[in-house]
Amino acid sequence: MKIRHIFTLLVIVLIASCTHEVINSPTDPASPIDVGRGGITPTTSDTVCFNSQVLPLYVSYCGSNGCHSDISREEDVITTSYTRIMEGIRAKNASRSEYYTIINGEMPPRGSPQMSADQKNTILKWINQGALNTNCLNSCDTTKFTFNDPIKTLLTNNCLGCHGTKPGSGNVFLGDYASAKAYIGANPTNFLKVINHDPTIAASKRMPPAGKMVDCQIGQFTKWVNKGFPQ
Ligand code: HEC
Repeated sequence: MKIRHIFTLLVIVLIASCTHEVINSPTDPASPIDVGRGGITPTTSDTVCFNSQVLPLYVSYCGSNGCHSDISREEDVITTSYTRIMEGIRAKNASRSEYYTIINGEMPPRGSPQMSADQKNTILKWINQGALNTNCLNSCDTTKFTFNDPIKTLLTNNCLGCHGTKPGSGNVFLGDYASAKAYIGANPTNFLKVINHDPTIAASKRMPPAGKMVDCQIGQFTKWVNKGFPQ
């Protein structure tokens, strides 16, 4: 093959591989969409977003201190960043992705909160889509702020790996409506500082520890708290 042909082929391959990363713009421009932490691409497509859907699961269920965090590095496994998570993931090959197969078996250890079937499916789908470092947010609707939608899901995905079984990290248990309402209701101002990573509180108390939720999600929490914890 002539160099020119090889080059053309290469360009085609590159373009083809790039199209997987294209994230569709929202089909419903009327729904309020937040573009939270820098560079987030809104999407209502089927693409699983690493940053907002996969990373929080690995951080919450695997990456707490004492386990696979930057500090404790159990077995030299860290699950708090894309690069480190990719050490145990093979794109499009879930059965050979150790960090996927293990969540269907040994990990998290018995007695710790386990990922749900839905959450595992999200990870599986992400692997099958190429395990890309997609940074986007499925439309986050600022008009929704009840516990059942979306607070419960936000807690499940971002917090319950550490706060989902009693007593919970830092003695904070947020595993059901009554407990979350009682704990947060006792000091709502502090809670809002905690999730806003307010610089006036100790760094260890800024939640989730691996990085703030996106602004729209913090907004949903804020409304839920300020409106008296509607169920
Ligand atoms: C990776 C584990 C982990 C995740 C995920 C996590 N937390 Fe925490 N959380 C902790 C630890 C550890 C402490 C105790 C920190 C301390 O006392 O310094 C804590 C403490 C807290 C506190 C008490 C702070 C205070 O003022 O004493 C609140 C409230 C809290 N977390 C809420 C949340 C919420 C809400 C989420 C999800 C949005 C979340 N956490 C996610 C580990 C986690």
